[in-house]
Amino acid sequence: MLKFPGIIINKHILLAVSGGIAAYKSAELVRLLRKQGAEVRVVMTRSAMQFVSPLTFQALSGNPVHSELLDENQEYAMGHINLARWADALIIAPATANTIAKCSHGLADDLLSTLYLATTCPVYVAPAMNQAMWHKAITQENIQKLKRHGVTIIGPETGDQACGETGFGRMSEPDEICRRLMSEPAAQCLKGLKVLISAGPTREPLDPVRYITNRSSGKMGYALANAALKAGAKVTLVSGPVALAAPDNADIISVETAAQMHAAVISKAAEYDIYIGAAAVADYSPVQMEQEKIKKQAEQSTLTLQKTRDILAEVAQLTKRPFTVGFAAETHDLEQHAQDKLTRKNLDMIAANWVGRDQGGFDSEQNALQVFWKNGQKSLPMTDKNHLAEQLISLIAERMEHERCNKNTA
Ligand code: PMT
Repeated sequence: MLKFPGIIINKHILLAVSGGIAAYKSAELVRLLRKQGAEVRVVMTRSAMQFVSPLTFQALSGNPVHSELLDENQEYAMGHINLARWADALIIAPATANTIAKCSHGLADDLLSTLYLATTCPVYVAPAMNQAMWHKAITQENIQKLKRHGVTIIGPETGDQACGETGFGRMSEPDEICRRLMSEPAAQCLKGLKVLISAGPTREPLDPVRYITNRSSGKMGYALANAALKAGAKVTLVSGPVALAAPDNADIISVETAAQMHAAVISKAAEYDIYIGAAAVADYSPVQMEQEKIKKQAEQSTLTLQKTRDILAEVAQLTKRPFTVGFAAETHDLEQHAQDKLTRKNLDMIAANWVGRDQGGFDSEQNALQVFWKNGQKSLPMTDKNHLAEQLISLIAERMEHERCNKNTA
């Protein structure tokens, strides 16, 4: 069975803010979590709202802020049980001494403490309080109790405090909390699965010295191979000519032309669980390759090209087909073209990227993807290709898990 990876990338994060001066830092935490690809919903206690306006969190998270346990409107939209179920992780930051005490004693007299009781997801607590309150034996006992119940405590740090004292009790900085969450061991979401990935350009020879190619560097496909390996998959990379180091532990099949890439992929695809077509395969190749170098003669010259075979579409036609993920490289009408390829080629998912722009796409360290599947889509904002690849791999695992569950309940 697949497990969801990590706790931020493509995840639902419930951020619970209790009433301390450090509440202002949590606004930055929302921004950082979203930057890492999380969807964030914020819950505030009444006293937290005296420090920071819910509007700040609403604007930063892009979602309404929840504060009342029995709010008719919010109960209608998403009751506290639904909110607890929605969360992949609950982060309480800042967690005041009072909130920590309530959670460790199983009290449920407001939305935050009720959510703590109702959720089954991993819980992270970032304490923030006066240093004397932190050192008080009862607070330390409460912290130990939460740890015994599986809660991860992040911080606090030492330093100057808002109350004028110095010592332990400052909430960890948002980037430190984010870093800790990112470094949580990601579950191996593709463990035991076999992934076939195509990467790089193809070269279509005109004669012994010239060829038609494109600007693909292979970086996106290689990043996907590394991300799939990290997620526990066995990976085969069918690669066009690139100047990149082969990922450790992947099987590499080096090819040059679209026909060679077609042969390599089609001969393997049925044995794999996932196929990702990240290669920029030539759509056309010369009808004939001249055996000798073409001589410069006329002022104008015409090449006759023929369509190459569509590897991606053929993989999706196989009787025993892998979960098939295509890419779409577009200079205009990105969504329309991507949706068209998704349907026409009968894909499970397509990752569309803009090409020919200043940022992202071909031969860039960074990229952004708009990912589509039947009845759904997700935007993965501009980031480095390694991070982006991890997000896409995580999304693929999620969609496969979703389809598996649908099949089982059908
Ligand atoms: O390699 P980089 O420099 O890192 O750049 C990354 C990238 C821009 C090449 C990559 O992100 C990307 O978009 N790859 C797909 C490029 C492409 O050929 O897109 P397309 O829209 O023309 O093709 C659609 C899909 O059909 C692709 O999955 C492609 O692999 C596949 N295809 C196309 C033609 C063909 N004959 N066989 C195919 O399988």
